Amino acid sequence: MSKLILQGGRRLSGEIFVQGAKNSALPLLAATILGDSVSEIHNCPDLSDVDASINILQYLGCGISRSNNTVVVDPRGMFRYDIPDNLMREMRSSIVFLGAIVAKTGRARISFPGGCELGPRPIDLHLSSLRQLGVIIEEDHGYLDCRCEGRLKGAHITLSFPSVGATENIMLAAATAEGTTIISNPAREPEISDLADYLNSCGARIHGAGESTMYIEGVEKLSGTAHQVIPDRIAATTFMSAAAITGGSLVLREIVPSHLGPVIPVMEEMGCDIKVQGHELKITAPPRLKRVKIIRTLPYPGFPTDAQAPIMSLASVADGTSVFVENIFENRYKHVGELLRLGAKIKVEGRVAVVEGVPRLSGATVCAMDLRGGAALVIAGIAAEGITEVDGLHHIDRGYERIEETLNSIGAKITRVNE
Ligand code: EPZ
Repeated sequence: MSKLILQGGRRLSGEIFVQGAKNSALPLLAATILGDSVSEIHNCPDLSDVDASINILQYLGCGISRSNNTVVVDPRGMFRYDIPDNLMREMRSSIVFLGAIVAKTGRARISFPGGCELGPRPIDLHLSSLRQLGVIIEEDHGYLDCRCEGRLKGAHITLSFPSVGATENIMLAAATAEGTTIISNPAREPEISDLADYLNSCGARIHGAGESTMYIEGVEKLSGTAHQVIPDRIAATTFMSAAAITGGSLVLREIVPSHLGPVIPVMEEMGCDIKVQGHELKITAPPRLKRVKIIRTLPYPGFPTDAQAPIMSLASVADGTSVFVENIFENRYKHVGELLRLGAKIKVEGRVAVVEGVPRLSGATVCAMDLRGGAALVIAGIAAEGITEVDGLHHIDRGYERIEETLNSIGAKITRVNE
């Protein structure tokens, strides 16, 4: 296991090029199997979740070559349609392969993705949507056995909740279905639009991505293409938070400011000055942040649940009391117990967390329990007095490229220790 040792109390400033979006790269890699030729995915972040997706592509029989942040996938050698338990367990969001595999091969057999740190992570919306497209799904001893007779058929699917993964599964299954699929109440995250852009570049006919109704006109076949992954809006928020908690300043390059729409007003309410120009954003923080009255996590374009933990670290040292309501996941306050060890004053009651800002946190040994909670602990440790150790680094490495190198490049003092 490896851990980070942070020396707190240093003001961060400088500039960062934000990595490609993890939550875009993962469905994009799954989508490459739909094409009848090679795809090049550029600006693909170097993460363990991306490694897990590549392992699945190679197991399915695809050719892979990878250099720096480009992954080249040749799906023409694909000969399997199953994902074994060990590969599914590496990353539960591999469920997004289901729609692509069954659309490509007419079969799919994957082990039921377990829950994760955030809660049970049901997939009922995925399964009911795929059934509406003509997929026959049997649940058998922990496996999902799927098949379809001939091509999938377009359908009008209404999602009771705008699930990101379910929307992606529908897009991947419907792109080559017979007829048109309409999705009412789809997820509208930027990663959904990025997937639609990739698929359309492969010959798909998808309209309305990012809006309240999406139209997918099925086509006979798709080619491969070259595609650049959008910047990671959650990584951007994380690094803005790291600078803000130290009263620092940071320039983010190569971002899409509109993707930070729900986050910027929150950081401005906390006293930060944020200037946006083209694909650049500059944030300058006050010596001490102010509290944020209330944050409710919501589907995009609402405040992102993935930013809840990093912003809670800011609230922990802000002047005043902040209220958080986590509406998306059942169990997304696991970082609270660890923030308390650093001296934070937080009360959790169900989906509500009340954070009473303290003047200063003090260093301690803490443990990351999930990806974004782990990032929140790094942010808090950067500001805490003295030394903080963050264990459970494998959670953080799922979503951040060498997080300590990025933060050290703007003035942090963090060492990775491999035990
Ligand atoms: C994606 O997860 C992201 N992961 C998550 O990011 C992100 O937090 C989430 O969307 C919300 O934005 C990836 O893109 C790989 P959902 P996903 O389906 O698709 C319930 C991170 O830190 N639900 O929109 O799993 C579900 O239980 C990760 O980068 C059902 O009830 O999210 C949850 O409460 C964490 N039935 C809510 O919907 C279903 O069939 C949101 O889930 C599917 C979901």
